[in-house]
Amino acid sequence: MVEAEELKVKSFITKHNNEKKALIAILQDIQAEYNYLPQEALKIVSVCLDIPLIDIIGVATFYRAFSLEPRGQHLITVCLGTACHVRGGPKILEEFERKLNIRPGETTEDCQFSLDTVACLGCCAIGPVVVADGDYYAQTTIRSVDSILKKHRKKEKKNEEHQKN
Ligand code: FES
Repeated sequence: MVEAEELKVKSFITKHNNEKKALIAILQDIQAEYNYLPQEALKIVSVCLDIPLIDIIGVATFYRAFSLEPRGQHLITVCLGTACHVRGGPKILEEFERKLNIRPGETTEDCQFSLDTVACLGCCAIGPVVVADGDYYAQTTIRSVDSILKKHRKKEKKNEEHQKN
């Protein structure tokens, strides 16, 4: 990890006063920055907080929000819980797989999209549900897939333009 990146990771740690109890918050900051938890960053956290690396990895693998593998800019999660399943969740997942050419747990080659599934999001009445970058899409159909992907690709362009200005 280059020095600037090391400093960035250390700034996440000092922001939380180097407190061990802030481990999850620190991991959230790292995840938000890199879209996953790079091994090098976890080593820095381990040294600074004096927590064994194996324990940090244990925490990181316990929570679904964290990923130890690089993730795409956009995370698409398709609910396959019972209610969403009977309303067509698997067909929607298949359509995402087809459009993105990846399977759940994978990331597209251009690192734009990662695909995931979940057992239930707790909002069964509006299923089938898809979550894209934290936005919930209710009563989705196969036809929703294209517009969800387009919308989130557009968001990224808007963000890029915003950063240029
Ligand atoms: S089964 Fe999909 S939200 Fe509950």
